[in-house]
Amino acid sequence: MKKFKIVVKTFAGLEQVLAIELKAIGAEAVTPERRAVSFLGDKSMLYKANFLLRTALRVLKPVAHFRVGKKEDLYNHAKNVPWSEYLTIGKSFSIDSTVQSELFVNSMYASLKVKDAIADYFRESFGKRPSVNQEDPDIRIHIYLMGDYCEISLDSSGESLHKRGYRIGQGEAPVNEVLAAGMIMLAGWKGDSDFLDPMCGSGTLLIEAAMIARGIPAGIYRKTFAFEKWLDFDEQLFSEIYNADYERESAIRIVGSDISAQSCAIARANIKNAGLSKAIDIEVIDFLELDPPFENGVIVTNPPYGERLRTSSISELYQSIGNILKQKYAGYTAWIISSSEDGFKSIGLKPSEKIELFNGSLPCSFRCFELFRGTHKQSVILKKGIQLPDQPI
Ligand SMILES: C[S@@+](CC[C@H](N)C(=O)[O-])C[C@H]1O[C@@H](n2cnc3c(N)ncnc32)[C@H](O)[C@@H]1O
Repeated sequence: MKKFKIVVKTFAGLEQVLAIELKAIGAEAVTPERRAVSFLGDKSMLYKANFLLRTALRVLKPVAHFRVGKKEDLYNHAKNVPWSEYLTIGKSFSIDSTVQSELFVNSMYASLKVKDAIADYFRESFGKRPSVNQEDPDIRIHIYLMGDYCEISLDSSGESLHKRGYRIGQGEAPVNEVLAAGMIMLAGWKGDSDFLDPMCGSGTLLIEAAMIARGIPAGIYRKTFAFEKWLDFDEQLFSEIYNADYERESAIRIVGSDISAQSCAIARANIKNAGLSKAIDIEVIDFLELDPPFENGVIVTNPPYGERLRTSSISELYQSIGNILKQKYAGYTAWIISSSEDGFKSIGLKPSEKIELFNGSLPCSFRCFELFRGTHKQSVILKKGIQLPDQPI
């Protein structure tokens, strides 16, 4: 099968995990870029990227790239694209654009120029043109114009891939599914130890963890992908990819809890919708009251950041979280994401790792706290396998 360049969009900070995911599904020439990773692949890789990648937001197939030195260049180059390979008169299309250019201050204007180029391309060759449909188009076209560099792509995903299809309820500030999967992967969790989210809200981290542990494809619950409407759609090939054997048994425990009964009800509904009720346990309880459900587990959680709370309350909450982790969770590794520097200061634990991420537009830090048994010094010695003296150090 013919290979071409494919660009996968993601969130800032997730480029490296996405690159690892891509290599794992057999991508070649994997190149991390800014909020994206590009690679070389054929049609089957394009389908797999959409169906399997947990940290992908959108998969694009570039059809042209060129320099835009003056305004007219955009229209002229866009008109030279062999559009009839991708579109026919009976089909509809939409255009969206990401533009940062002195020539095109308004991204709508860039979209309009490409729309005109496509319309004129068809009118001149066929006397008619395909229609524009921004809501439910057959073909989605994406323009990326950065400075004087322009790339025109076909969007093979359609709705953003974070819309997995299992969510039927939103809690208070749910974390994006792609960010949740990325956090779990950055934490190095592969389904090999028990997993706890004690402030689970609508259950996103729990569901993503269960999908990782069981090898459930990220796109299994989705109804459609945009490439299914492409002229070259290979139904047989996609059906083989869709029906391949990905899943595995998992005996690890995945537990979620939240102080809000309403959030837990939403989490249960989402979990049920994902067919994961047997894989995940949910309990309504304040984290400060919870007893560790297992030994030596991994916690990945996003507590409230305090946008709606007073600074003093956020400091108190994080201080209590820190105390509880120290008192009850020895042997665990806890990963916490937050935008609240005050919160992190109040935890009173030294992180072993800090990763900068964004939750929506909020800059956040994702921090790892190793909760050693005994003192840190003792644990390091234990890890190295050195004999401890009878007396505490
Ligand atoms: C930012 S939300 C978590 C969103 C979640 N990750 C999701 O995807 O839906 C924070 C959650 O912490 C919960 N929470 C706040 N204080 C808590 C406490 N002391 N114990 C347990 N849960 C708490 C809130 O009820 C809320 O659901």
